[in-house]
Amino acid sequence: TADRVVLGIESSCDETGAGLVRLGADGSVQLLADAVASSVDQHARYGGVVPEIASRAHLEAMAPTVQRALDESGLRLSDVDAVAVTAGPGLAGALLVGVSAAKGYAAALGVPLYGVNHLAGHIAVDTLQHGALPERSLALLVSGGHTQLLLVDDVAGRITEVGSTIDDAAGEAYDKVARILDLPYPGGPPIDAQAALGDPEAIDFPRGLTGPRDAAYDFSFSGLKTAVARWVETEQQAGREISVPDVCASFQEAVADVLTRKAVRAAQDHDVRTLVISGGVAANARLAALARERCAAAGILLRVPKPRLCTDNGAMIAALGAHVLASGTEPSPLDMATDPGLPV
Ligand code: KG4
Ligand code: ZN
Repeated sequence: TADRVVLGIESSCDETGAGLVRLGADGSVQLLADAVASSVDQHARYGGVVPEIASRAHLEAMAPTVQRALDESGLRLSDVDAVAVTAGPGLAGALLVGVSAAKGYAAALGVPLYGVNHLAGHIAVDTLQHGALPERSLALLVSGGHTQLLLVDDVAGRITEVGSTIDDAAGEAYDKVARILDLPYPGGPPIDAQAALGDPEAIDFPRGLTGPRDAAYDFSFSGLKTAVARWVETEQQAGREISVPDVCASFQEAVADVLTRKAVRAAQDHDVRTLVISGGVAANARLAALARERCAAAGILLRVPKPRLCTDNGAMIAALGAHVLASGTEPSPLDMATDPGLPV
């Protein structure tokens, strides 16, 4: 069979993504285009994603974003051989916009449609930058919506969860702590920047679920967020001026410490030699540095896609769609449903 072009559509949260990849006859997957429109600015004043605003923004951005991806690649819609779309997990209304659009493109072109899992997409995207995954790898998925450790036997089908957060996602903790410190939303980038100027050992914030009787691979960040809030409140009540850089650096150290400690342990316990870190929080400087350090010490190969690929985009869905297509999986029916709670 010849090369096939896959269009990927993403609309699970606040990013409208359209990506194009080329699936080679040898199973290789190459990035052709990656267009993203974000409604993040419209949510900023609410301190979090507002579902209705996200849905409306997807509706407006969908067709122009697909067109931008086509322009970027120099391809035409008629060059598309398959359409992949995020079926879940995500916001119900937001998912519907992407899936409806994908059905329209697939039906109009007479090409197969593949409803795929957003979380698997975050892992599959790494193959665009670093090539095929080894037989078995571990993925640490850290974003505003999810924080999970996943064992990946086949990115197109066999992924098993080995741990997840029992409360807030890591990115959510960043966003909430930013709010406490009067930093803008989303909180990851400003905290990352402030932390670079602070002392990570200034304040000893708690490391959630790291006790001897705690679940080895699960995470908890809500206690950490509360500890930051309480610390700031106590200092302010005592009339002491707080050092925002120190709070950020100490908070960030607690997050990076727990994430990397548990990821490395899970890799070792499952005898896996490759760790992929993806999702918006993977852009964090301290997380990347600590992961590099600890993976090197443990003899684990670390793969972190570039930030642009780590945050939500259409290329990750196109990449996953290409792997699913290559695996010979049956396409989804044209009346496929969305699933806001779709498990990995
Ligand atoms: O993957 P993503 O774009 O969207 C989903 O949540 O699916 O991730 C967004 C999250 C936000 O919570 C944001 O604060 C966080 O990723 N983030 C960061 C950084 N950049 C973005 N967190 C820590 N450090 C960063 N540099
Ligand atoms: Zn995501």
